[in-house]
Amino acid sequence: MTRTLSPSAPAAVRLRGLVRRHGDVRALDGVDLDVGAGTFTAVMGPSGSGKSTLLRCAAGLDRPDAGRVEVAGTALEGLGERRLTLLRRDRIGFVFQSFNLLPTLTAAQNVALPLRLAGRRPARGEVRAALARVGLAGRERHRPAELSGGQCQRVAIARALITRPSVLFADEPTGALDSTTGAEVMDLLRALVDEEGRTLVMVTHDPLAAARADRVVFLVDGRLADELAAPTAPEVSARLAALRPAGTAGTAGVAGASGTAGVAGAAEKTGTAGVPC
Ligand SMILES: Nc1ncnc2c1ncn2[C@@H]1O[C@H](COP(=O)(O)OP(=O)(O)O)[C@@H](O)[C@H]1O
Ligand SMILES: [Mg+2]
Repeated sequence: MTRTLSPSAPAAVRLRGLVRRHGDVRALDGVDLDVGAGTFTAVMGPSGSGKSTLLRCAAGLDRPDAGRVEVAGTALEGLGERRLTLLRRDRIGFVFQSFNLLPTLTAAQNVALPLRLAGRRPARGEVRAALARVGLAGRERHRPAELSGGQCQRVAIARALITRPSVLFADEPTGALDSTTGAEVMDLLRALVDEEGRTLVMVTHDPLAAARADRVVFLVDGRLADELAAPTAPEVSARLAALRPAGTAGTAGVAGASGTAGVAGAAEKTGTAGVPC
């Protein structure tokens, strides 16, 4: 049931029969998914449906109990810890809802960190160019506390891209941002795909953010339940509403609320601005 936008595009990520258990919970229950290189895929689904687990397994941050993960043609399951660490460092970028910047380092030092950890000295201008690419020219010496939430997330995106990864994963990257700032970060992520051919896989609760993707896949109880190509926000909202078992009002919904799956309502942020960098 999976399809890529362009069948001829090589898969940047290939998941087969992915299972991940936590005790009795099957966080992933047999997921097959191909992500075409140079495409933007959004992952949606109710809270607890396995979205973060899917991303973490695909990014080599967590190991599945069964199934295969391939990133840029490399199978992860055969890799020992050292080679997996190298693959994560060199081929995979990961962006978190809460930015995960080191507060004592400047923006430039945060961005350079993956290179430093690899024992590489950044080339002259490399970090400055990465910050300029995300709209933060001139902010090199600011520390996270001196930057807004949106700016912190831009630093985190620059850091994730500094090693030129094959795939960028983002788990609710706009979840801690107000809607205007979130939309600006989405503009940046979309541009990275359109202008630089990056591959992006992003978890989001926000139909407006998901509508920026080329394709949305929907998870329910650890299984792929649906997908939508060339999505619009109202279509995404309607599909999300249809996923919910009758009689439930969704993860953050209020029982007995209006019942219409309006985009604005569905796009309510679960987090608030001010999450520490
Ligand atoms: N480290 C863990 N220990 C125990 N249960 C977990 C752990 N991580 C996730 N789970 C469970 O796995 C399911 C999927 O979680 P998650 O992938 O975080 O969902 P989502 O990101 O869609 O909200 C949930 O039932 C969650 O409680
Ligand atoms: Mg999650």
